[in-house]
Amino acid sequence: MFAVHLLAFHFTKLKEDQIKKVDRYLYPLRLSDDVLVDVMGRFQAEMVKGLSRDTNSTATVKMLPSFVRSLPDGSEKGDFLAVDLGGSLFRAHEVKVFDDGRQSSQLESKFYPTPKEVTQGNGAELFDYIADCLLDFMETKNLKHKKLPLGFTFSFPCKQTKLEEGVLLAWTKHFKVRGVQDTDVVTSLRKALQKHKDIDVDVLALVNDTVGTMMTCGYDDERCEVGVIIGTGTNACYMEEMRHIDLVEGDEGRMCINTEWGAFGDDGALDDLRTEFDRELDLGSLNPGKQLFEKMIGSLYLGELVRLILLKMTKEGLLFNGKVSTALLTKGKIEMKHVSAMEKYKEGLSNTKEILTELNLFPSEEDCVAVQHVCTIVSFRSANLCAAALAAILTRLRENKKLLRMRTTVGIDGGLYKTHPQYAKRLHKVVRRLVPTCDVRFLLSLETLREVRNKMRTELEYGLKRETQANATVKMLPTYVRGTPDGTEKGKFLALDLGGTNFRVLLVKIKSGRRRSVQMYNKIFAIPLEIMQGTGEELFDHIVQCIADFLEYMGIKGARLPLGFTFSFPCRQASIDKGTLVGWTKGFKATDCEGEDVVDMLREAIRRRNEFDLDIVAVVNDTVGTMMTCGYEDPNCEIGLIAGTGSNVCYMEDMKNIEIVEGNEGKMCINTEWGAFGDNGCIDNIRTKYDKEVDEGSLNPGKQRYEKMTSGMYLGEIVRQILIDLTKQGLLFRGHISESLMKRGIFETKFLSQIESDRLALLQVRRILQQLGLDSTCEDSIIVKEVCGVVSQRAAQLCGAGLAAIVEKKRENRGVERLQITVGVDGTLYKLHPHFSRVLQETVKELAPQCDVTFMLSEDGSGKGAALITAVAKRLHNVGQK
Ligand code: BG6
Ligand code: GLC
Ligand code: GLC
Repeated sequence: MFAVHLLAFHFTKLKEDQIKKVDRYLYPLRLSDDVLVDVMGRFQAEMVKGLSRDTNSTATVKMLPSFVRSLPDGSEKGDFLAVDLGGSLFRAHEVKVFDDGRQSSQLESKFYPTPKEVTQGNGAELFDYIADCLLDFMETKNLKHKKLPLGFTFSFPCKQTKLEEGVLLAWTKHFKVRGVQDTDVVTSLRKALQKHKDIDVDVLALVNDTVGTMMTCGYDDERCEVGVIIGTGTNACYMEEMRHIDLVEGDEGRMCINTEWGAFGDDGALDDLRTEFDRELDLGSLNPGKQLFEKMIGSLYLGELVRLILLKMTKEGLLFNGKVSTALLTKGKIEMKHVSAMEKYKEGLSNTKEILTELNLFPSEEDCVAVQHVCTIVSFRSANLCAAALAAILTRLRENKKLLRMRTTVGIDGGLYKTHPQYAKRLHKVVRRLVPTCDVRFLLSLETLREVRNKMRTELEYGLKRETQANATVKMLPTYVRGTPDGTEKGKFLALDLGGTNFRVLLVKIKSGRRRSVQMYNKIFAIPLEIMQGTGEELFDHIVQCIADFLEYMGIKGARLPLGFTFSFPCRQASIDKGTLVGWTKGFKATDCEGEDVVDMLREAIRRRNEFDLDIVAVVNDTVGTMMTCGYEDPNCEIGLIAGTGSNVCYMEDMKNIEIVEGNEGKMCINTEWGAFGDNGCIDNIRTKYDKEVDEGSLNPGKQRYEKMTSGMYLGEIVRQILIDLTKQGLLFRGHISESLMKRGIFETKFLSQIESDRLALLQVRRILQQLGLDSTCEDSIIVKEVCGVVSQRAAQLCGAGLAAIVEKKRENRGVERLQITVGVDGTLYKLHPHFSRVLQETVKELAPQCDVTFMLSEDGSGKGAALITAVAKRLHNVGQK
């Protein structure tokens, strides 16, 4: 034991020493807030210089008008093609723009490689290549016959005089194509396209990636007036007052300015901050002396900076016993992905060791700690510098509006921002510190949601395939429900509904034929916490006790009714009336149930009580019950969604795709259990520290990661964690963390929904907070409301992204161009929250544009659904017996 402590002590000490050593060595890369404020001031001056007619020609920060205006200009609607050149990936995609000209939605895209011959060859070849790729895209998407306008996202500095023209000022990043600079890239692209007589494409607009990002985010949030890219390169755009833009006629409204901030410092303005490493890196780049700010920030450069630092440290004997390897001497050997891996929260150190070993260095523990810290300092500086320039833009926006405080949204994208483990968090923090007068919201463009959709799709497939199914996180459980109701169901049934906000017992009377109807009687029972988390026997005894009460209350104790058991937890079924609990989720954790058949457990509890008998016919997930209820009204309902305490979806899958169940004919309902999506870490890049805190404090740490970002039981917890954090920073509740705020679970879904209601005056918000034991000022209540808004919007969007994957899969299953489908929905979050359902629906529309999805609310549908399933099963059973 003692030895362990000694070791731990030794390691901490070792770590401290190494970190101090690196800190001292890299002192010039560590920028204090004072320095950052200074940088902010310098950038503000640069913006003014770039905007003014007299100084623009000598300005390094070009402040390029984009001809994207705030005032409506009657822009086109309909189908567009788009190509996107200049980031880490080159791709073509199809876009739809809706009636109001602003809303756009992206359909599928296809990526193409950009080998060096393309990025560093000659102009004619580059444009021919783009045209060829576009042709290929149109062929694969069957679009060749259509006359389509094209939007060209070209992520390089271009001087524009109108939307459909742009003269390239200079290549940046990894591009250096001969004969393109100072020419209009739109004309060149048009020429290349004209060579293909079989397509008819017109280049309609040229946009920078920052502008594209701002516009896509503007679709989600009207307040979005800044676009930032932190990826291969870095840049920002924002909406400037026309009266300040000397280079464009007119004084009314605003126009988006592409700052091209990457060139900041090209006139020496940052020379005092640039280090010997920056100079060396610059000399070895494609464009020496250019894009000096970008070279301290973009992911194209950070790996190389780290390499140069390590090399020098090694040469000075500070690392690896002074032994340099050939790999370490080779330009480009350390890339951004390595830096990110080395900075990873838990695995960081072991990743570092692995990466250094790959480079033929022989790292000691000390070396690894030191190298990791070098990475941190380099990426921290990147985030700091970005924050300073962004803070300058925000301040300018606020001053333009003559406001003392401003709320605004920054649309942001780029690989570094999205995938580096701590980058986004650091950036947000510094921006908030530098401009406390701006409440900034950072909004990732839809790209992230698209990624979520695509990953969900991958996981769905894993769960269905025989080889991958055992290790799949999204379990895709067969339910043995093979059809939706056909209206012939009838009879009297009992139903149990366990696992949502309420536990209820129901009596359901179904009539078929001309007087088709469903009547329900139900009673809600409480399940005390000690029982939810006690022993399995206690839980099932309690359930049976409630059934007994209900039978008594309804006066039907003698009748041996068929029973459908809605059990809203993951169950592996072998038939409709057998279900082994895979694992508890949400607030349940009774012992001795996991791995057991819950129907057996219920039967045994009935036997133990020995008072009545029931015929348990089916065990049903709540999603399935919900789908069946809606299916009873609308035969096109083949999906069931629950957005309540928990989050889950089921849908009708073709038998031939369900490899783990025999048979190829017809369909079967699959309970996806998508709440577990991400348990393999595949969405960790979008989880925040708050998500991780919520997870750690939950009953099932590490499990149900997607559910924990999207469902009612956890959203309140996320909000609470954020509020605690804000309070600690002194931004809320006068910096005082009250006892109530420390109470897990105080923000139930219903409170969130109330707080976010548009009809609620701030005073009422304060009253709700008061009820929860939180004493708030008016300012506090605004912040709390805002926090709730961000958290619930993200939840709805993530849920929408998941659902988009499901409907897209259904569309492909049916092999149709457009799919009309109904989704049965239930759950308190969906029903009570003022914005959740809308944002969810909008996201699905956006991410699955070829599907027309109707949402059908099924209030308390599970009980009815369970009864319907029971009826069907009973009918089939009887047929079987005859
Ligand atoms: C209810 C259904 O309406 O919704 C339940 O009857 C389901 O079966 C529940 O579990 C889900 O929502 P919540 O918010 O109660 O968990
Ligand atoms: C470079 C380009 C700029 C682009 C940025 C991000 O800085 O010059 O136009 O926006 O990279 O991709
Ligand atoms: C949890 C359960 C799932 C249920 C969902 C909604 O995710 O695991 O079975 O459908 O909550 O209640």
